[in-house]
Amino acid sequence: MSERITIEQNVEILKRYAYLERACMRTLAGWLPGVPEWEAKNQFGLHIWESADAADHLRARLRELRNHQPERGLSPALQQVFTALDYAQNTAEVIATVYLVVKRALLHAYRNHPEVTWSDFDNPTVKVTESLIAQTEAQVAWAERYFPTIAEGYPGWESWRDTVAGLLESDGGAMGTGPKVEARVDLDARPLLLPWKECQRMPDWPIFDPEQDVEPDRKADPEGHRLWRFKHYLNEMTASETLGSILWMTPEMPWEYQHNVARHLWDEIRHSQLGQTRIQQLGLKIEEVPQVVQIYNVMMTLPAVDQYALLTTVIEPNGMPEKRANREHWEDIHDDISAAAVSYDWSDENFHIRWGQKWTPVLLETYGYDETPEQIKERMEAWLLENTPVKMQQRHAHGIA
Ligand SMILES: [Fe+2]
Ligand SMILES: [Fe+2]
Repeated sequence: MSERITIEQNVEILKRYAYLERACMRTLAGWLPGVPEWEAKNQFGLHIWESADAADHLRARLRELRNHQPERGLSPALQQVFTALDYAQNTAEVIATVYLVVKRALLHAYRNHPEVTWSDFDNPTVKVTESLIAQTEAQVAWAERYFPTIAEGYPGWESWRDTVAGLLESDGGAMGTGPKVEARVDLDARPLLLPWKECQRMPDWPIFDPEQDVEPDRKADPEGHRLWRFKHYLNEMTASETLGSILWMTPEMPWEYQHNVARHLWDEIRHSQLGQTRIQQLGLKIEEVPQVVQIYNVMMTLPAVDQYALLTTVIEPNGMPEKRANREHWEDIHDDISAAAVSYDWSDENFHIRWGQKWTPVLLETYGYDETPEQIKERMEAWLLENTPVKMQQRHAHGIA
């Protein structure tokens, strides 16, 4: 029988997995607004949540193994990998490093973990690593399929992939058990493009014009109203992008907050997807719907704490009555698909508001604000009325469903 790792070595390896999963979450979140490709955005959104949840499960196993500081004592080279991932310059460099280097290495490690640990005694770890194989496989498979469709547009990505792969390799791979060599990467030579001040779209996609945004009357023009409403759902992509930048800008916050924000982010991707599904069923193409990039761009003039308070204590609570009214209306006219879509959206929003109440005070405290949650909510409400390009948000602020 081959030699197995000790429980202490096992802890060190699981710390590395959790840290690399968080690295993937963080870089994809920061880059969500920065990639113009719609498919990449949608996939990043799912994988940000999956990476966060993978890290959460690994951290839970680490606590069972009596490790409560999973990010203490990590090797400097691994910390360099974590930092370096953010320094990609474009979609191809993000995918080549996050998926084709780090996620591939994690997949290999998860598959091998049962052979490395004392599986007979360490069954709970085996259960965790085995449970991560299918999702990591799917993530890597997506990247392998998608990458060739964009790579040509981003020449030169190979050298950045080789740099990051070399760095991880120099630290003994994902497990850290391979041979180690001294390696350093000089990041000063590369610009850091995060956080993105403006969210990116394909250059030929239409941009939303606030002056053209007229809400059809629900009762008088149910079809027009429905199409209008699901176009706005499709544009919840910007809420997701906002959360990506917020998550990237608040690494000092507790892990539980990061885990919650990652889920919040994926929920907004799902809301965009219910818009995408519905407008396609109604005969439109995604690339025909004008993109509301303005709300992300104007929110990025605010600090992360203000953005989070604005989204979760103003915009989301204000939006609830309209969702209830829409559900009733669609049930009344027997539009079961639209009613089902909004019922899940409404259910998700309850959690977003709850998280907002939980984390806004912690953000205020962590980043040294002297405002109360009530005060920042009032300030953000006034800011929204002045600054939002979306009339629907102004009406909601006035309590009009
Ligand atoms: Fe939403
Ligand atoms: Fe939400």
